[in-house]
Amino acid sequence: MISTKHNHKIFQFSLLPVTLLILLGCLSFTIFKNPDEKDLEIFREVSDFVDDNEHCFICHGETKYQLSDEVTGRVITRILCQDRVIKREDYYRSNHKRFACVDCHTGKYLQFPHPIEVRLEEPFACIDCHGYDENYADYQFEKIEEEYLQSIHHTANPAEFSCWKCHNPHTYHISIRNTENLSATIAYDNAICLSCHADFNRFQLLTDRGGINIIQQHQWLPNQALHFKNVRCIECHTQISDDILVAHLVMPKDEAVHLCSECHSRNSLLMVTLYKFQSKEARNKYGFFNAVVMNDAYVIGANRNYFLNVVSLVIFGLTFLGIIIHIGFRIFNK
Ligand code: HEC
Ligand code: HEC
Ligand code: HEC
Ligand code: HEC
Ligand code: HEC
Ligand code: HEC
Ligand code: HEC
Repeated sequence: MISTKHNHKIFQFSLLPVTLLILLGCLSFTIFKNPDEKDLEIFREVSDFVDDNEHCFICHGETKYQLSDEVTGRVITRILCQDRVIKREDYYRSNHKRFACVDCHTGKYLQFPHPIEVRLEEPFACIDCHGYDENYADYQFEKIEEEYLQSIHHTANPAEFSCWKCHNPHTYHISIRNTENLSATIAYDNAICLSCHADFNRFQLLTDRGGINIIQQHQWLPNQALHFKNVRCIECHTQISDDILVAHLVMPKDEAVHLCSECHSRNSLLMVTLYKFQSKEARNKYGFFNAVVMNDAYVIGANRNYFLNVVSLVIFGLTFLGIIIHIGFRIFNK
């Protein structure tokens, strides 16, 4: 008797999740039947040009595209090279998400194969749209351009290097300015540099130099992985700038920061680079020098504590006094 009742219960319990699963399955089938359409609906909230852009995304949003011959009706599928693929979700999260593709590219790109003359068109520069515009005064585009023009990248290849090489036109978004997660910002900013400095294909497009092995070049830095997680490349490679939030003058390698004390000291350069924004807050909270840094990292030398310093001096003084008194007694006893 008892055992049948028991079995019955098991049956009830196992039936419940199964029924739920089936119900959920049906539900998700109706909701997610067409994932693309669902995503497009979300993108339409940020852009008025989602449907126009699909004329380009139909190829550039996928890893393959189709070629068709209207006369014979023959259709073949081809791979779209990785560099030409733009993820919709990245695009509609970028600074320029509200743009139509053909705001920056000519409408002649609707033709395929794309004609040679449209490929050689000069793209807009950042400064064409943002220069001397009150709305963007905070960013100081003019100052940034001034610094960029003196940077090693521009001077090495003025014809082909441009702001777009670091600021991917389809994915770039501001990060450090309103960061809530500093590690993610550091990773994002470093990925910009590594997009060439860890990818020889992109690097060699702009120079005839051989590859540069980043890990080998920074062998002098102990615990490299930890450092690269906690500081950005630009901390060491750009000239410190008082005027702009993100310094843009990348210097030749001999001028890069090499001294540990530049960061591991009370005047840590991190306070005028990585922590520039936050450092306007009270600097010496709870007696710690450079207290803002402590939210994210403990930098030996930079985060010394004033009170602990005083305490250690007092202890040192007392010890010294003890020794003097001890010596005094010994002399006295003799
Ligand atoms: C039928 C598929 C297809 C469509 C639609 C399409 N493209 Fe392309 N596009 C390609 C392929 C394939 C390449 C790479 C091969 C090549 O360069 O021809 C390319 C290359 C490009 C390039 C790089 C050209 C260069 O030489 O550097 C740009 C820019 C571009 N497309 C923009 C657009 C824009 C903007 C649209 C929409 C108005 C668009 N494409 C629509 C398939 C397409
Ligand atoms: C804010 C301006 C802007 C918008 C908007 C824009 N592009 Fe671009 N695009 C550029 C620039 C500038 C380049 C050249 C980048 C370079 O020189 O490195 C480029 C390059 C490309 C390339 C060549 C591959 C590459 O990444 O270098 C493709 C393909 C492309 N765009 C497609 C598109 C498509 C599709 C859209 C719409 C979804 C679009 N672009 C929207 C400015 C823009
Ligand atoms: C064709 C004109 C045009 C070009 C070229 C252009 N931008 Fe923009 N940019 C805009 C417009 C318009 C907006 C505002 C978009 C919006 O409000 O949705 C914007 C937004 C931004 C923002 C965000 C501003 C904010 O307060 O939210 C940044 C940062 C930015 N652009 C940087 C750049 C950089 C860097 C370049 C060059 C690599 C560049 N832009 C090239 C027109 C342009
Ligand atoms: C060598 C790479 C590189 C080049 C070249 C470059 N930038 Fe930047 N830029 C960066 C990095 C990295 C950031 C930090 C991004 C972040 O965290 O918001 C940045 C940030 C910015 C910002 C946002 C700063 C802020 O106050 O929030 C603007 C605006 C900008 N760059 C404009 C430009 C312009 C204009 C040019 C060309 C004259 C240019 N950049 C060239 C790497 C570069
Ligand atoms: C679009 C590719 C690209 C990006 C992105 C890029 N670089 Fe470079 N970088 C190069 C090339 C190419 C050279 C070699 C220039 C030459 O000497 O011909 C170079 C050279 C350098 C050098 C060596 C200069 C010397 O004296 O030999 C340093 C340092 C450097 N880059 C730092 C950075 C930093 C920091 C960033 C990120 C803010 C960055 N790069 C982003 C392509 C890039
Ligand atoms: C702690 C400071 C520091 C950080 C962080 C740092 N570098 Fe360097 N980097 C240097 C110094 C110093 C040199 C010069 C090494 C030498 O000449 O022996 C150098 C050399 C280089 C070179 C030149 C190599 C050559 O032979 O031309 C490149 C490129 C470079 N770094 C890129 C980067 C990139 C990309 C990052 C971020 C992932 C980065 N660095 C982070 C200090 C730093
Ligand atoms: C660009 C600034 C900068 C420079 C230059 C720099 N460091 Fe650091 N270092 C940091 C930061 C930030 C951390 C904090 C990491 C953390 O949160 O643990 C750190 C952490 C450390 C640590 C702790 C590592 C651990 O295992 O916990 C040591 C040791 C260290 N650095 C030694 C050095 C030495 C030696 C040099 C010179 C060869 C140097 N650093 C140069 C910024 C720097």
